[in-house]
Amino acid sequence: MPITVLDHPLANDLLTELRKVDTDPPQFRQTAERLGYLLVAEALADMKTEDVEIETPLEPMTGRQLRRPVVAVAVLRAGLGLLESVLTLVPDAAIGFAGVQRNEETAEPMEYYTRFPNLDTAKVLVLEPMLATGGSLSWAVEKVKQNGAQDITAVCVVTAPEGVERMERDHPDVRIVAATLDLGLNENFYIRPGLGDMGDRLFGTL
Ligand code: URA
Repeated sequence: MPITVLDHPLANDLLTELRKVDTDPPQFRQTAERLGYLLVAEALADMKTEDVEIETPLEPMTGRQLRRPVVAVAVLRAGLGLLESVLTLVPDAAIGFAGVQRNEETAEPMEYYTRFPNLDTAKVLVLEPMLATGGSLSWAVEKVKQNGAQDITAVCVVTAPEGVERMERDHPDVRIVAATLDLGLNENFYIRPGLGDMGDRLFGTL
């Protein structure tokens, strides 16, 4: 499934703020949340709705409401930076967590914690802001599939071609929504030009 890169002036403006080396953690968190609204709205653009009879102050009418539950699975830690955006837009979304740590030598994922709500009939958004090698996202998607998820969209901020190719190979059924497709990875598996370590930038860790 092809990647959707947001082509929106507001998304580009917010992304540029995130990329700047001197954007501090409070600013970074707030900007990531705002960009998250645009990404989540796009990720939910293919959601089914159902008709519902309502009354406006003037007259009855047929409205439309979301038909299926939404689940957001945050890939720890950086995925937490997009969680508030989902919960603001869809307050009754259920939340899962996929704890995976990157082996700094091989860049392959090492699991340390997973916890999911019911995923069977849900629209599942896997929040993985930095799609670098694709190892963590591919692992998280495999986990949610093993737990019953069938309709999965990955929500990313920055992606690298290497990660997108891996996802196309491992999970061609998963749609990716992102703010940018960057140049590629450096020798430490960071995305260039990227924005650095998303977790560190969100939480001010060194
Ligand atoms: N994870 C990050 O936080 N940044 C990168 O550039 C790659 C992976």
